[in-house]
Amino acid sequence: MASEGPRPLVAGNWKMNGSLTMLKEPRLLAAMLKDVRLKADVMVCPPAIILRRVKSVLKGTKIKVGGQDSHWNPSGAHTGDISPEMLKEAGCSAIIVGHSERRTNHGETDETIQKKAKGVQRAGLTAIICIGETLEERKAGKTLEVVSRQLKGSVPENSDAAHTVIAYEPVWAIGTGLTPTTAEVAEVHAHIRKELAAIMGAEGTATRILYGGSVKPSNAAELMSQPNVNGALVGGASLKAADFLGIIKVYT
Ligand code: PGA
Repeated sequence: MASEGPRPLVAGNWKMNGSLTMLKEPRLLAAMLKDVRLKADVMVCPPAIILRRVKSVLKGTKIKVGGQDSHWNPSGAHTGDISPEMLKEAGCSAIIVGHSERRTNHGETDETIQKKAKGVQRAGLTAIICIGETLEERKAGKTLEVVSRQLKGSVPENSDAAHTVIAYEPVWAIGTGLTPTTAEVAEVHAHIRKELAAIMGAEGTATRILYGGSVKPSNAAELMSQPNVNGALVGGASLKAADFLGIIKVYT
């Protein structure tokens, strides 16, 4: 049983994976989901270079397409960057910002992420804002403190539920096969819900909070059944249609 609350979202983050040969996976996923009644939104976030191709493969299906990162400005002298408006034009309805791989590998701070999230919202898209503690922070008992700081620092003022999704992704659970216990997930998600109410008021209640980090078909049902877990952000297991379907099926 999935938990109560806002309509869930299962989003697949392909990261820097995928080529034209991989277009068969979203095609397959769309075919598998064709006659399935879903109680969740489904999205794939491929690398920008193949976004339009994925979008065209998914035309007329219920699967949405999202971007993985964007600059905060709509256009300008920013070599190598992509704006939210450009991703919108390519067919995206949401963009992931603040993923821990961006925080770590590109030195992104909460301040940068807030600017990026604001840019996404300006374009009329949904910002999927990622937060989560490192293993050292968890071991030091600082998880809730870190999550609070990241939320306060990276969720833009006046955010609403339609344009904001929070993804709780413990850094140590990403790509490692490790996951927090269900009690740990429930604890952090309840804390995020409380903080969102303080930051966003009534909109905080309707904002989706995804869990991410080693979600796979074998653990999805248990993780998704926790209170305040309104879907998943899936990395590795979103690359193969059959695996991703195994997770999405929690919401049938
Ligand atoms: P994973 O990645 O599912 O491969 O652990 C999740 C993420 O980084 O969004």
